[in-house]
Amino acid sequence: MAFKDGFLWGGAISANQSEGAYNVDGRGIANVDLCPTGDIRDSVLMGKTKMFDFDENYFYPGKAAIDMYHYYKEDIALFAEMGFNVYRLSIAWSRIFPNGDELEPNEAGLQFYEDVFKECQKYNINPLVTISHFDVPMHLVKEYGSWRNRKMIDFYERLCRVIFKRYKGLVKYWITFNEINMVLEAPFLSSGLFIEEHEDAELVKFTASHHELVASALATKIAHEVDSENMVGCMLASIAPYPRTCDPKDVWKAKQVENQSYFFIDVQVRGEYPAYTLKELERKNIVLPFKEGDRELLKQHTVDFIGFSYYSSSVVSADPTLTDTIGGNLFPSLPNPYLKSSDWGWQIDPLGLRITMNNIYDRYQKPLFIVENGLGAVDVPDESGYVEDDYRISYLSEHMRAMRDAVEYDGVDLLGYTVWGPIDIVSASTGEMKKRYGFIYVDRDNQGKGTLKRSKKKSFEWYKKVIKSNGQDL
Ligand code: BG6
Repeated sequence: MAFKDGFLWGGAISANQSEGAYNVDGRGIANVDLCPTGDIRDSVLMGKTKMFDFDENYFYPGKAAIDMYHYYKEDIALFAEMGFNVYRLSIAWSRIFPNGDELEPNEAGLQFYEDVFKECQKYNINPLVTISHFDVPMHLVKEYGSWRNRKMIDFYERLCRVIFKRYKGLVKYWITFNEINMVLEAPFLSSGLFIEEHEDAELVKFTASHHELVASALATKIAHEVDSENMVGCMLASIAPYPRTCDPKDVWKAKQVENQSYFFIDVQVRGEYPAYTLKELERKNIVLPFKEGDRELLKQHTVDFIGFSYYSSSVVSADPTLTDTIGGNLFPSLPNPYLKSSDWGWQIDPLGLRITMNNIYDRYQKPLFIVENGLGAVDVPDESGYVEDDYRISYLSEHMRAMRDAVEYDGVDLLGYTVWGPIDIVSASTGEMKKRYGFIYVDRDNQGKGTLKRSKKKSFEWYKKVIKSNGQDL
């Protein structure tokens, strides 16, 4: 048996991409609410176009999303029917602290998540909670400049203290920041950072990264103090960069791109900045905003497990004239002639998952958790909402085989696996509903039209069988 007893099988979503109810029960507006659709979206996500004022009349895809705020009981029942024993979701910071800098939390927001976790408990589903899945209350963005400001650590700490205490006994698994390395690629989406023209973008991003890393270590410390049962993880957007050729220059380039992401995890797992990052920053004249106590905090409060997302591998080259990149989770990649791509140009590479698992496990020897993996595709439902999504089954089963090989043949210690978007939700990179990952179809389109009715796709029964057989029947 490749997967140990108690292996965690489930799915993962984020608050902003699913809940909707953007202004219900005292919720405040967050950066993720302001991400528009269309051509301008990329520039907003990258922190290049400023969109700070929420327009009630504008169609933001996350505004209503799939209204999980009101449908969560129905949705969790469907997850339970598939056999989930873990459900990854995120807390919307602005439900708990609408502005972010209040001294007291919003009780209605706290109660909502308590109800959700109790619903999970009914079915013996472990919540795996992402504390910040890209979201920052807009008030903190406008008044404090978001994570470029050290005060953010205090606001985040306050959030952590409140939720760890309130959900003690209901939640054991936590992730401090979703895809923490995304701050370098999409600073506004990931961390609420708009880069002003006069600013040094690298300096802003590395300053914010340091604050997030310190906040993450502090959260880990508090989580363990509040409940020694708590398991806290970091979360990497893994991109598996391959060199385009065996030219050592390409190999070196791939290594550098990989390090750009690994440095965050090096800090969260090893407790200190790696030499290659310190040297790079020194060359760029960037001084990290270390304060007294940061070094000890980072060193003493490292994570218990390493969560990561994996959708695709990527290809990089040292040749600056090769600029014809294709899609891939906001990280640019050159085409790989050996791989097929998804409807959105993300290259499909199951073996890349095994390679990634080996790379991370060899580097850190800590338990891994695959907290996102899946295929965003165009689904065509019949009249009842049924979708014959054999392409999704094939993507997932191939990735699960690779994951099984990594466990069975390579000895990687893996805690669990959560498929991204077990129910169709709004896409983070494009804002579309059309890009669907789910086992459950939701009747809603890119313009926000539809009944929101949920229906099972073919992959629903397939995943149920996978879980029942603990990953043997793929
Ligand atoms: C990850 C994010 O980057 O990829 C998710 O953590 C996101 O929030 C997922 O949804 C898939 O990306 P997309 O753009 O297809 O939704």
